[in-house]
Parts: sequence; C-alpha cells; structure tokens
Amino acid sequence: MKKQLLLLVLILATAVALAGCGGGGDNTDTASVAPRGQNTSAGDPEEGKTLFAGTCSACHGPEGLGVAGLGKDLTTSTFVMERTDAEVLEFLKTGRPASDPLNTTGVDMPPKGGNPALNDDKLLDIIAYLRVLEQ
Ligand code: HEC
Repeated sequence: MKKQLLLLVLILATAVALAGCGGGGDNTDTASVAPRGQNTSAGDPEEGKTLFAGTCSACHGPEGLGVAGLGKDLTTSTFVMERTDAEVLEFLKTGRPASDPLNTTGVDMPPKGGNPALNDDKLLDIIAYLRVLEQ
C-alpha cells in the first residue's frame, strides 16, 4: 500500500511538472513571428528559382509559364493557389501520371519532376518560388 501511494505521488509530481513546462510557453513573445497564411512559404524562393530552373523548367518553362505539350502554366494555376504548402509538397512528391483521372493534359507530371534528389527542404524552396510566380 505504501509503495502504491509513493507511485501515485510520483505520477502527480510528474504531471504537475509537465503542466508547468507547457504553461511557461504561453508567456513567450510571439509578436515577432509572422502569421503563416496559406500563401506564405517556409522555403527560400531564391534557392527555389535555381532548383526550378534545373528540374522543372524543362516542362514548365523558365518563368513557369508552361510549355505547349509538356508542363502547365504554374503562374495562373488555381491548383497551386488553392493549396497549402504542405499539400503542394505532397502533390510534388506524388506527381500526376497521365493515367490519373485528374490529369488534364494526358502528359505525365513525374514525382519530384523526375529528380529524386529533391528532398522536402528543396521542394519547399521550389514551392516558395511558385508563390512568387503566382503573384
Ligand atoms: C517531364 C515534364 C515535367 C517536369 C520535369 C515537371 N512537370 Fe510539373 N507537370 C507536368 C505536366 C504534364 C503537368 C500537368 C499534368 C496534368 O495534365 O494534370 C504538370 C503539373 C504540375 C503541377 C500542377 C499544376 C496544375 O495546375 O494542375 C504543378 C504544381 C507542377 N507540375 C509542378 C512542377 C514542379 C515544381 C516541377 C519541378 C520539381 C515539375 N512540375 C516538373 C510535367 C512536368
């Protein structure tokens, strides 16, 4: 019985300690952190521009205006505009094969534009560049 009581005290003490830690965070100044809207990006658009030129421009053109018979215009893409960075990231990792019923051109959009070296960080840089293009 004594052991059980000790255990209970320990659990309570831990719970109080954890609650204390969580509560402390509320007092930090969050004013300097800009609110993250749908069209702001965590990536670096300059870096993204370079990566876009290396992988995506072959089909989407250097300015993202699209290439006839290849990639679509990304500057006016409501598909991109209406999605969060996380959603666009998922799309870029999956692509949209010609066999996909949502495909609109009958041409493959390969996963990561066919460049497996593009990790999430690099793709977020590219997404930041897409956000610049759509302005
Ligand atoms: C081999 C050509 C090719 C490459 C390389 C390529 N794309 Fe695409 N992309 C396409 C095609 C084709 C589509 C249109 C698919 C369809 O018909 O729905 C597309 C569609 C997209 C869309 C959806 C646009 C919309 O409005 O539906 C986005 C976003 C996109 N590509 C981004 C990229 C990015 C970013 C890269 C570089 C990492 C890239 N693409 C590389 C061919 C390509």
